[in-house]
Amino acid sequence: MAESNQAFSNILIRWYERHKRDLPWRETKDPYAIWLSEIILQQTRVAQGLPYFQKFIARFPAVGSLAQASQEEVLALWQGLGYYSRARNLHACAQMVASQYDGKFPNTYKELLQLKGVGAYTAAAIASFAFNEAVPVVDGNVYRVVSRVFGLHDDISNASTRKVFEGRLVSLIPSDTPGEFNQAIMEFGALHCTPSAPDCKNCVFSHSCFAFRNNEVANLPVKTKKVKVLNRYFNYFVFQFGEEVLMGSRKDKDIWLGLHDFFIREKDELLDEDAALGEVKRLISPESWELIDISATYKHVLTHRIIYARFFRVRILMHEDFRLLSERLGLNTISISDTAGISKPVLIANYLNDTLF
Ligand code: ADE
Repeated sequence: MAESNQAFSNILIRWYERHKRDLPWRETKDPYAIWLSEIILQQTRVAQGLPYFQKFIARFPAVGSLAQASQEEVLALWQGLGYYSRARNLHACAQMVASQYDGKFPNTYKELLQLKGVGAYTAAAIASFAFNEAVPVVDGNVYRVVSRVFGLHDDISNASTRKVFEGRLVSLIPSDTPGEFNQAIMEFGALHCTPSAPDCKNCVFSHSCFAFRNNEVANLPVKTKKVKVLNRYFNYFVFQFGEEVLMGSRKDKDIWLGLHDFFIREKDELLDEDAALGEVKRLISPESWELIDISATYKHVLTHRIIYARFFRVRILMHEDFRLLSERLGLNTISISDTAGISKPVLIANYLNDTLF
């Protein structure tokens, strides 16, 4: 028997009250803290995101202080969370709220959508958690719970499916406690109605869940398009003179925009020693440098790609050549001890940690 809408939401919220995790962004109605937590938690598990939330709130207690920070500081604090466009948008959004909204987050779903980096999901989360607006959130957890409990077979790889789920949720979300409902359905998806092997026998919806009653738990939600994983091969050249190396911030519209790395030659494969020597010969006249170290191969796994990287360390013998190379490549000289404080991808941080300069 299908649950009535009211019964579904009551059972869900009762479950939430008993099982919810105590999380700092659940103790507040401050839209800034809620927004910050939601940006951090996109594509990130709570256990990983929580320390970042605490770091950011401690350093930037209000939107104005975040707006005034340098992008470099924001990127450095974000290091390790990945998807760095989120950090750049976070910073741009804080500046937008500070300058265009007098430091106050707008208080409706529609206006929130105008903010940089705030899409349907985040706008609904802020509007419902901070301002009690009855707009449903739709994320991966919500797709899973709703598709299973109500037997929705629409393919969640299609963007148009969101509307189908939103339509169903609009009829379920209670107007008096929309924020609790949204938190509850996400938490239920995260803790109980998990992707594989959920505990259906001990589920508050076991008597009514479509997927459980029809043995379809493993088939729902329907998702046809798998993420394609791309291999990339990064050959890095670490030019060194004394205690200094050449680094620059990434300029191309690509991963890690704004973060610091070394001179890179991306190829269809990792270079061997001869090929690497050939690359350096094209840049610097012979006898003024030596290849002193070739790193092990690093395998850096991201959601949509696997990066294989090798670092070729090249000592430049004359300071004037080092300076000219820095100009030609558009890179900065930085002392090795200062690399600790700059924003950089985890791959580069790992290499620096592993390497005895
Ligand atoms: N994931 C995304 N938003 C969340 C929230 N508000 N609480 C717990 N997990 C989340």
